[in-house]
Amino acid sequence: MTQSSDRAAGRFISFEGIDGAGKTTHLDALERRWREAGRDVVRTREPGGTPLAETLRELVLHEPMDALTESLLVFAARRDHVKSVIEPALARGAWVLCDRFTDATFAYQGGGRGFDLQVLSTLEQWVQTGLQPELTVVFDVDPAIAAARLSAARQPDRFEAQDCAFFERVRQGYLGRIAAQPERFATIDAGRTPEQVAQQVAAVFESRGWW
Ligand code: TYD
Repeated sequence: MTQSSDRAAGRFISFEGIDGAGKTTHLDALERRWREAGRDVVRTREPGGTPLAETLRELVLHEPMDALTESLLVFAARRDHVKSVIEPALARGAWVLCDRFTDATFAYQGGGRGFDLQVLSTLEQWVQTGLQPELTVVFDVDPAIAAARLSAARQPDRFEAQDCAFFERVRQGYLGRIAAQPERFATIDAGRTPEQVAQQVAAVFESRGWW
């Protein structure tokens, strides 16, 4: 397997947080900055990032299903995404900026839905065979603040429609992942103003020389 050398060639960075944490604005800014600097950037998202995975995303976000089905679908989408987009991009030296990855499964299906973390770990190993983001930026925010930010203008999906208690469990799911592998994560206090959050994000990338 060529995976570790493939990974060494590029950078794989994921952004995470509960719905309404505000990560998309900062992903957009980082992507713009890197493109202007002439980097080979692959901006992608989960569930999604390939035609098959985007089809699975629609099902996961809108069709009723139990937590095991949900977990299997997000990992099926991830498998296709890893094989057809992420690994080839890393192999050619691109910087992959991914809006959510497996930490979201541990947070939403594991924390939010209460699904078995051992089963999720097994699926993680099967699907990723060791691939993990080099850095995961978690936008941590009180669910009440996040809920207030979520636009009332759009129809909520199956996750956005959940209550604060669900998002508190999701948040705890993220904090559990951070506690288990602290070196992989940077935590942003996303309850601050957009300018203050942008400064924290810049500091994370500046300190690594990736800014
Ligand atoms: P999100 O990334 O918030 O996109 P948008 O900003 O367009 O709403 O939506 C994806 C949703 O999918 C989000 O509520 C979290 C959920 N999700 C899971 O439940 N499990 C997963 O493994 C992933 C990647 C996402």
